[in-house]
Amino acid sequence: MNPLRAVKGMNDVLPDEIGRWQRIERAYARTMSLYGYREVRTPYVEQTGLFVRAIGETTDVVEKEMYSFVHHDEPLTLRPEGTAGTARAYIEHAVQAKEPLTRWWYAGPMFRGERPARGRYRQFHQLGAEVFGDEGPGCDAEMIDMLVGFLNELGVSGVEVIVNSIGAPSSKTLYRDALVNYLAPKAASLSPDSQRRLETNPLRILDSKDERDLAVVGGAPTIHDLLDAGDREHFEKLRALLDALGTPYEVDARLVRGLDYYTRTLFEIKGAHEKLGAGSTLVGGGRYDGMVADLGGPRVPAIGFAAGLERLLIASDVDSPDGGVDALVAPLGPNAISTALVLARDLRRNRIRCEVDTRGASLKRQLRRANALGARVVLILGDSELAEGVVQVKDLEAHTEERLPRDQAVRVAVDRLVAASRGVESRPPRLAEEPR
Ligand code: HAM
Repeated sequence: MNPLRAVKGMNDVLPDEIGRWQRIERAYARTMSLYGYREVRTPYVEQTGLFVRAIGETTDVVEKEMYSFVHHDEPLTLRPEGTAGTARAYIEHAVQAKEPLTRWWYAGPMFRGERPARGRYRQFHQLGAEVFGDEGPGCDAEMIDMLVGFLNELGVSGVEVIVNSIGAPSSKTLYRDALVNYLAPKAASLSPDSQRRLETNPLRILDSKDERDLAVVGGAPTIHDLLDAGDREHFEKLRALLDALGTPYEVDARLVRGLDYYTRTLFEIKGAHEKLGAGSTLVGGGRYDGMVADLGGPRVPAIGFAAGLERLLIASDVDSPDGGVDALVAPLGPNAISTALVLARDLRRNRIRCEVDTRGASLKRQLRRANALGARVVLILGDSELAEGVVQVKDLEAHTEERLPRDQAVRVAVDRLVAASRGVESRPPRLAEEPR
């Protein structure tokens, strides 16, 4: 029989790794609340038609990468990204009628049937956000600046912001025509994929990494030649605001991004960690001023982004918090177990992380376990302690031992641990270190 394994491109996150995930998730939640965003949770499964309409029928995501299935005659898809579902929820709950400006963030798994590689998975996790109801470049600039600050907080090195404007849908159509006029006579030199895209989605040719396409695309007109006055003004203001904020960026006139819903501002943020390889794009985002109306909602401008959490984990130097306990209660035999459980409960009521070793192991093995867990204090309950109504409190760092009545034993253990953690608090605060 074949051994059962996780699905290719879908990974377990084991407890040894989860601390770093949680630190980044908490730092993200904190950043978002500082900027006035509120969390939204939408389903992992949506109607297939939502993604086809929002992301675009001829995008790679919709054409090749979606996990779609039919359940009781209903075509459904595991969400490949968060924007479409968030916009659907915004429309469905008539949020615009309740508030003129909406800032939502989300975090969770997304699913794309891509070829797995380092930094590219089939189930991956995004930290994302969407703002509905603000069409000005101030919103774009604040978002980009916020993301740079967040990546700096995570200790990501070589942060590089790339921005572009793709214009309003009318400029996009003009540009599509101009691109086709330029590329059509050279079609034979393009890759087979791009020859097909020339018919279906010519803008995607600009994203191609194929040498044949790169050679042809080099001389193509850029979207900037066709932006209208409004688009141009939006982009110039965005750049001026980023300059004023001191947020470095580069303009790449060929940045188009792979999803069809974008209008005007587009951006990507890269990191420089050598282990990122092909996954160096940490964050992607942009405006989608037409999508809400296209999905049947009100005319509301919108902008958002998503960061790949697995990529942030590779790029960030955030370290793992210690995941052990502060105290171990050690009953030395079955008679001591009920008293041990009560003592442990009292410690936890005092917010002390503690474990009881109810296996009835020898003192030696329990002390070894206390060390492995990083416990500083061990409360030992043998037959003689039970008979006398006392507990042996062993401080493994101060190398002290005291026999104390049970209620005092809890007090002393708590005092020792709180004093020790005060020492910890006097260190400079580290990322996402939770107050105890
Ligand atoms: P996206 O560029 O497709 O945009 O994805 C955003 C980020 O998700 C990427 O930069 C990358 O870090 C991560 N990511 C994407 N695919 C994978 C994968 N297969 N494995 C690991 N990480 C991946 C969006 O998804 C848009 N919804 C962003 C957005 C929000 N635009 C407006 N609002």
